[in-house]
Amino acid sequence: TELVFSGVQPTGNLHLGNYLGAIKRFVEMQQRDAQCLYCVVDLHAITLWQDPQALKGQIREVTAAFLAAGIDPTRSIVFNQSQVPQHAELAWIFNCVARLGWLNRMTQFKDKAGKDRENASIGLYDYPVLMAADILAYRATHVPVGEDQKQHLELTRDIAQKFNNDFAGSILAHGHGEQFFPLTEPLIGGPAARVMSLRDGTKKMSKSDPSEYSRIALTDDADAIAQKVRKAKTDPEPLPSETAGLAGRPEADNLVGIFAALRGITRDEVLKDFGGAQFSSFKPALVDLAVETLAPIGAEMKRLVADPAYIDGVLADGAGRAEAIAAPTLDAVKDIVGFVRRG
Ligand code: TYM
Repeated sequence: TELVFSGVQPTGNLHLGNYLGAIKRFVEMQQRDAQCLYCVVDLHAITLWQDPQALKGQIREVTAAFLAAGIDPTRSIVFNQSQVPQHAELAWIFNCVARLGWLNRMTQFKDKAGKDRENASIGLYDYPVLMAADILAYRATHVPVGEDQKQHLELTRDIAQKFNNDFAGSILAHGHGEQFFPLTEPLIGGPAARVMSLRDGTKKMSKSDPSEYSRIALTDDADAIAQKVRKAKTDPEPLPSETAGLAGRPEADNLVGIFAALRGITRDEVLKDFGGAQFSSFKPALVDLAVETLAPIGAEMKRLVADPAYIDGVLADGAGRAEAIAAPTLDAVKDIVGFVRRG
């Protein structure tokens, strides 16, 4: 059976890339009959220092974004990572399975640590191992994410496979069959798997870009969205009539991709309508579409964050249901590894 897990960091500045690449697709997975767990990964957030007072607000804001986008907390399990101790516990065991050489290849660590690598936290380096623990504590089979998480999901499979091999005899002896952890499938795709900056079509849209104009925030109002799209970088050519014509035109490709993802159609379908059009006519259509989609989400987010007691209740309920799945996994892992357990 399908079990879906994904996470979003509560580091502020949730943007259109997070929505189209991840959260919108979380909602789609919920519509199928899969059990879905959607986690606000606060343990990951503190790999870079977070102001404690701000962090609480950011955790509630991501939760509000999940709910406002259409995640139903009675059908899906919505929770924050630090309330379920099995994530950190399994991460330790995986620290002893993962190899230094594997982590040394992680490009996100290199990007985030920057030049001053000696001064990066150990947590930032270990980030992908905790991510593997998030997923495998539930033995999740499918993980919807944006393109930037691909390498981390490959590492998750490597860790699962090495655990299954290293403990093959014990796994069998404890009656778990051939493989204890599944080899989780990444679900990366659609026209917005990698939404780019509105200022530079070769850079990813990101929470940490210093320019507000690089991203559309989920809480932006109609005026802000209109201004950002109007100022978005383009080239002087009209739109091509087919996707192939977007090659070498990163900004045009990005705006067409965003339009396609917002409408739930393909780039080619967008170009059927807009091939030959100038950006002066495409951009206003994109603004209308973005406002139509995001305005209700932003408004609902604002309504929800005004009621922190409700949000905290959703997270507490989700944490209890998540733990009920993760705790038996950890018990089994401890038996497999050879620890002595209380009865
Ligand atoms: P985070 O918080 O950086 O981003 C949340 C989700 O948004 C996607 N995303 C994008 N998609 C398209 N275009 C973009 N420009 C863009 N920017 C971000 C990300 O791919 C992600 O799906 N490591 C994860 C959080 C995490 C996690 C997990 C995910 C922790 N544990 C277990 C899945 C499973 C992250 O940093 O996401």
